[in-house]
Amino acid sequence: MAVGIICAIPEEIALLEQDIRSEQDTVIAGRRFIQGILYGKEVVLVMSRIGKVAVAVTTTLLIEHFGVNQIIFGGTAGAVDPSLKVGDVVIADRSVQHDFSVDETDTFRIPLIDISYFQSDPLLTLQADQAAREYIQNEMHGDIPQEHLTKFGIQEPRVVTGTIASGDQFICDPQKNAWLYSKVDNIKCVEMEGAAMAQVCYEYQIPFTIIRVMSDCADNEASFSFDEFVKGAAQYFTRGSIRSLLSKM
Ligand code: ADE
Repeated sequence: MAVGIICAIPEEIALLEQDIRSEQDTVIAGRRFIQGILYGKEVVLVMSRIGKVAVAVTTTLLIEHFGVNQIIFGGTAGAVDPSLKVGDVVIADRSVQHDFSVDETDTFRIPLIDISYFQSDPLLTLQADQAAREYIQNEMHGDIPQEHLTKFGIQEPRVVTGTIASGDQFICDPQKNAWLYSKVDNIKCVEMEGAAMAQVCYEYQIPFTIIRVMSDCADNEASFSFDEFVKGAAQYFTRGSIRSLLSKM
């Protein structure tokens, strides 16, 4: 059975699309699902587009139509933990929908399934953490042009595991960032897809992991930093960590 691989935007998926040995392309709901061999593994690679609905549709199709039995999400995020910098990598051990609220006293809880924090698969998460470390230690400096690393001040990025928060908002506001930091347990970063993919995977009982490289710090400079980072570095981190992870699976 194949591994599903999702990225949200063209800049994140570009090098994976270049490297996959495509056996079949299928367009469903405007998304191009590429079935093929990637670094020796059978995969279905797809760009979800941005946001929770987009990734929920994509994840459901990967499971229902293509029968994948594991899913990896790779892409960028905004750092919320103040100790994280652009270029650091976060692996989600769990994820939460920060814009989900039906009851002020019980923030983020999703009624009827009664879950606030979706757990990632422990083994995939451990393997993803090792994979990102190995990419950074052994390959990153030969893979990403030095002028790009210098531009983003990237030397030896850290890899951490923790909570990722997702919502249908690009966060570029220090106050919202501080709110997330105070409300979400062990939060590391914020993005727009992970926890929605996690909910679909939870409901179908499909193991998954989420790998995010910090493109910005979800602050006043976030939009500029994000634009520059996706142009110059996101695709390398996404490819490098996914390549390394697939070799362990
Ligand atoms: N993805 C990358 N940076 C982000 C941010 N600041 N907010 C939401 N999603 C992001």
